[in-house]
Amino acid sequence: MVTLAGFFGGAPAAHARAPGRVNLLGEHTDYNDGFMLPVATPQHTEVALGPSNDGYFYFYSATLDQSVSFAQRGSAPPGFASYIEGCIRLVEQEGVAVPALRVYASSNLPVGAGLSSSAALEVATLRALRSLLGFEMDDVKLARLAQRAEIEFAKVNVGIMDQMASSLADREHMLFIDARTLAHRLLPLPAASELVVLDSGVPRRLAASKYNERRAECDEAARLLGVKALRDVGDPAALAALPEPLRRRARHVVCEDLRVLEAVAGVDAERFGALMDASHASLRDDYEVSIRELDELAASLRAAPGVLGARLTGAGFGGACVALCRAGAAPAAAADALARYNAGARKGRVLIPLTDKEDTR
Ligand code: GLA
Repeated sequence: MVTLAGFFGGAPAAHARAPGRVNLLGEHTDYNDGFMLPVATPQHTEVALGPSNDGYFYFYSATLDQSVSFAQRGSAPPGFASYIEGCIRLVEQEGVAVPALRVYASSNLPVGAGLSSSAALEVATLRALRSLLGFEMDDVKLARLAQRAEIEFAKVNVGIMDQMASSLADREHMLFIDARTLAHRLLPLPAASELVVLDSGVPRRLAASKYNERRAECDEAARLLGVKALRDVGDPAALAALPEPLRRRARHVVCEDLRVLEAVAGVDAERFGALMDASHASLRDDYEVSIRELDELAASLRAAPGVLGARLTGAGFGGACVALCRAGAAPAAAADALARYNAGARKGRVLIPLTDKEDTR
């Protein structure tokens, strides 16, 4: 394990941090030009930068205890370094000269739990570059570059939600995002409520191939319906003529958008919880991105005292569940749900709320 001071031989020249995200409502809607409501995680990734004096990039991930180096005009090997390199190259494409750098990344975001540690790494890297090199870039543009770094350099075909959330969300609000226009606004969490997030302990297997399959199904459904994107449908009745499974896939997206819009119009915490339950059922039955463990974890959460609704969060096929519960109920609800879930020889764990000791706001 390399320390920050050891890596830089002193203090870094610049550093920045960025959070992960938990999406409350609006799943698999971003690449359909739709709506979503993520919240920033208390966990974050920190990126520190300093000059490299020999024309080589040196990247170190404290999370993975991995080092990578490559010539300034060369390219990074696949893995964590490709996310950082992607950010550097895209900043260069914006006309900013980036010197060879030493980059130190550390994080308390769990990798593979579906809290978007990759978006946090990209956004923290871009923020640190902005701070070191002094170029102007607003937070929406920064999110767009972060998304492009993931698509073009890490080769994962994601939507814009995670990077928008990491760049613009905070812990006290939900960030309403319109993925078509990137219009966004911070909204208060439902009154007298708080969040619980539990990791199922199941890594997201199959996620990439199934994600691409779902995207292709949505594109095909939009094409058959003659709309630019499923966001333009609005009424689930318009889907009747689609063949299966496209009809169910499209029904999830159209109804999920309606759930977000209902929540944004203003609902109480009970209704918000019911919308989350409905979202989970739709992701399980219509979109088919859940797995047995996520269904069990969401059910365990729903059965815990004070919980108003629960659903898988993120792309699915493993990762985490989020629940909305009454204010003050989160620690006990998390412990209760986890005891039930882990009785089945599972390795679930609490991601939010953090204990006071872990919480480095
Ligand atoms: C992943 C992608 C996001 C979004 C979600 C599903 O997190 O990175 O763009 O599509 O899945 O809502």
